[in-house]
Amino acid sequence: MKILGLESSCDETAAAIVEDGRKVLSNAIYSQIAKHRPYGGVVPEIASRNHVAKLPAIIEDALESAGETYDSIDAIAVTYGPGLASSLLIGFSAAKTLAQRLNKPLIGVNHHEGHLHSVFMKEDAPSEDTVFPMLGLLVSGGDSSMVLMRGVGQYEIIGSTIDDASGEALDKGAAILKLGYPGGPIIQKTAEGGDPKAIRFPRGLDSVDRGKWVYKYDRDLCFSFSGLKTSLLTHVKNLDHEPVGQELKDIAASYQEAVADALTQRVERAFGRFEIKSFSCAGGVSLNKVLREKLTSLSEKTGVPLLLCPPSLCTDNAAMIAGAAYEKVRLGKDLIEPNDVNPNLRLADWV
Ligand code: KG4
Repeated sequence: MKILGLESSCDETAAAIVEDGRKVLSNAIYSQIAKHRPYGGVVPEIASRNHVAKLPAIIEDALESAGETYDSIDAIAVTYGPGLASSLLIGFSAAKTLAQRLNKPLIGVNHHEGHLHSVFMKEDAPSEDTVFPMLGLLVSGGDSSMVLMRGVGQYEIIGSTIDDASGEALDKGAAILKLGYPGGPIIQKTAEGGDPKAIRFPRGLDSVDRGKWVYKYDRDLCFSFSGLKTSLLTHVKNLDHEPVGQELKDIAASYQEAVADALTQRVERAFGRFEIKSFSCAGGVSLNKVLREKLTSLSEKTGVPLLLCPPSLCTDNAAMIAGAAYEKVRLGKDLIEPNDVNPNLRLADWV
């Protein structure tokens, strides 16, 4: 079964054709980073206007490079949430129109489910049936959470950030260091040759006795990155000069280390709490070299297999949307044909 996937939840305009959930026949992405860089973050109106301008050509590109036509695809999958409402609407309207015009099924997909599914999108990935229950670490610019996956569509969030997402922490950290946008890849590059132990930045939620815990997840399985960001800001303000050279590398390496450590620490704690057969990491931050190394060491230490997605599928893309849609079809679940986008869609809504 060949599915055309569309993704426009934030600042990537993407279309892809995926066969039987795993074989990526094409994965066309227009990244709007250059358009948003001058503002230091994503500007929703600029994002939606660029989706309008670029989506038709990106769809054509996806069809052409897969050697497919509108007639040869079997269904259309689209992200209908969560994300920026004005951005989601562009991909969603295009998908709905195509589905009606071509008389093909429309499958609404949760963006986070797409990320979680992306670790299965290589031909040598283990079958879904052998890896559950799986602990999924979802780390992107807008979200950081740990999801206990008992099967496809059976998700329980067991930990989450209570403030910034890990990608957001890297983006804001890079802004404080005046390194540019997006922060994750720039911090990683700047950190090369830096000492990750030079500064001990906080890992979040360490002091148990401070403040009343009002969140529904266990405190020690949650993340907090706002203190880390403040700590970096204070560190930089206390210097009587702009950090450059080795000093800048050390700061970037120590900051990156704190983010990667905080994430890995919570995953390790969850290992002791839940019976799992494997764990995975997906989303833009899963591209991070240090995080990948730490998770790989954890896998080696504990013997719990780790699934990571191919780098081309870590950041937002439409192949993961088409792949996740196929899983619904494969398992004979009711397909969701949404009437509208849902910017606040939860994982539990897409089961
Ligand atoms: O998943 P994604 O493309 O978009 C969202 O759905 O949010 O993730 C974007 C995030 C940004 O915060 C970006 O700084 C981060 O992923 N990122 C990285 C790396 N590449 C992208 N973070 C750490 N290291 C990287 N190499």
